[in-house]
Amino acid sequence: MHLMLNGMTKSFQDKSGHRVSVVNNFNLSLTRGECVALVGPSGCGKTTLLRMVAGLETEDSGTITLAGRDITKLPAEKRGMAVVFQHYALFPHMNVARNVAFGLEVRKLSADQIRKRVDESLALVGLADFGNRVPNELSGGQQQRVALARALVIEPTVLLCDEPLSNLDAALRKQLREEIRALQQRLSITTLYITHDIDEARAIADRIVEMG
Ligand SMILES: Nc1ncnc2c1ncn2[C@@H]1O[C@H](COP(=O)(O)OP(=O)(O)OP(=O)(O)O)[C@@H](O)[C@H]1O
Ligand SMILES: [Mg+2]
Repeated sequence: MHLMLNGMTKSFQDKSGHRVSVVNNFNLSLTRGECVALVGPSGCGKTTLLRMVAGLETEDSGTITLAGRDITKLPAEKRGMAVVFQHYALFPHMNVARNVAFGLEVRKLSADQIRKRVDESLALVGLADFGNRVPNELSGGQQQRVALARALVIEPTVLLCDEPLSNLDAALRKQLREEIRALQQRLSITTLYITHDIDEARAIADRIVEMG
């Protein structure tokens, strides 16, 4: 197994101070290169689970194992994982190339390496000529492709997607899910993909897991 989630558990405090269980003893294992779609009703804890896997939320209990190593306590930036959210969360004042370069600058790669990898990832998502535009000069689908390029540029060992296509219209959703699937398979990235759309889950995933 490449990524193993064992006994993941999380509760939050509600307004009246009661603990509310959100994720309760959740187990899931993914083989290397596998894409699992996580489906389930709104509020069942999908985003909370994904945030724990990414290291953006601390679990109450449970362990996360990546390639045989316990990474439960490892900070987000050391997990080698990339996240694509529903909202593109691009930096509005930076052009596309700088948005994609950001994760590499943080990791202190050389300017030459950064340029090469940014060009490669923009080509990968079909935006080779868009490096100089700013996000508000792009369509929603193009912005989501930039978000994907920004995730892939760090060559993640795990890709985590939280309803990345739900802000797009139906035609574009269909097109982009095929593109994401092709990329995910070509790069053989272990992927956890949250969606509400069962057709999207079927199109994108090797396996569908229901939560809640
Ligand atoms: N930081 C928080 N503090 C308190 N409660 C929270 C917090 N984050 C999430 N919750 C609660 O946890 C529950 C699960 O939320 P989560 O966002 O994980 O659901 P989800 O399955 O992703 O839903 P959706 O499909 O609508 O995105 C919800 O009831 C939510 O209100
Ligand atoms: Mg959610």
